[in-house]
Amino acid sequence: MQNLVSTLPRRHILTFALVLAGALPVASIVSKPGFAATASKPKIGIVGAGRMGGGLGSALVKGGYEVMFSSRQPEELKDLVAGLGARARAGTVEQAAAFGDIVLLVVPYSAMPGLAKQVGAVLAAKPLVLDVSNPIPQRDGDEASKALEEGPAAYLSRLMPGVKIVRGFNAIGFTKLADPVLPGGGKLGVAMVGEDAKAVDLATTLARDIGFEPVVIGPLSLGKYLYRPSTFFNGSQSADQIREIAKTIGK
Ligand SMILES: NC(=O)c1ccc[n+]([C@@H]2O[C@H](COP(=O)([O-])OP(=O)(O)OC[C@H]3O[C@@H](n4cnc5c(N)ncnc54)[C@H](OP(=O)(O)O)[C@@H]3O)[C@@H](O)[C@H]2O)c1
Repeated sequence: MQNLVSTLPRRHILTFALVLAGALPVASIVSKPGFAATASKPKIGIVGAGRMGGGLGSALVKGGYEVMFSSRQPEELKDLVAGLGARARAGTVEQAAAFGDIVLLVVPYSAMPGLAKQVGAVLAAKPLVLDVSNPIPQRDGDEASKALEEGPAAYLSRLMPGVKIVRGFNAIGFTKLADPVLPGGGKLGVAMVGEDAKAVDLATTLARDIGFEPVVIGPLSLGKYLYRPSTFFNGSQSADQIREIAKTIGK
């Protein structure tokens, strides 16, 4: 404790003391910009460090999170992590799954059966697995068709029983991650679905920390609507627009 306090910027020491005394909520620490964020934020493991996983992980590192990116060839992530500094590291899929308090899945759906065998049991112990992946049959074949038929979250829960899933960022193009603002100003909204209260809280906090305004549109069964660009979400909408569109889903 002494060490933690001694590393705090002077302006945060009073806040910290008030929290310890019960006079302020813990949120008053974690929401302060500039706070030594890594001491209070969950660690992130990313499975799939391509365009979307790489972009999300980079935004999270900049937002104060410690992130382990992973690849089946982790040495190929050397330049990415070197450019992001001390909070970023690279590892194997198993290492990232073990490292993360929260794990992001950012892969083609064809990878899911293999990942379930490889790290499913590890993921089941996490408070949040954020599924950013989209089942696209033209790209991912049969597994995507099955996931669309069952619903992506039901499909993942069958492969990886016990996993606390939130789906989110599915319609956000990776180019928006570094600067998630609307053309006229204001934050970009991000639609999410989830049921486990703690998982949803972690996912929405993470989205806010990288500059998005999250909107939880409902339970996991609505997850199949998150990537339907022409009909529902297109990744360029405000939180209010997402709320309006959400009212029309399933009607
Ligand atoms: N691109 C976007 O703007 C965007 C936006 C929202 C959602 N998404 C969704 O996010 C997912 C990834 O899209 P992307 O555009 O980032 O694709 P990408 O650039 O091709 O990257 C895919 C990643 O998946 C990993 N991967 C593939 N098969 C794997 C397996 N069997 N086991 C473990 N990792 C595996 C690859 O890692 P290796 O290094 O091991 O090859 C690679 O890093 C897709 O489901 C996509 O629909 C994409």
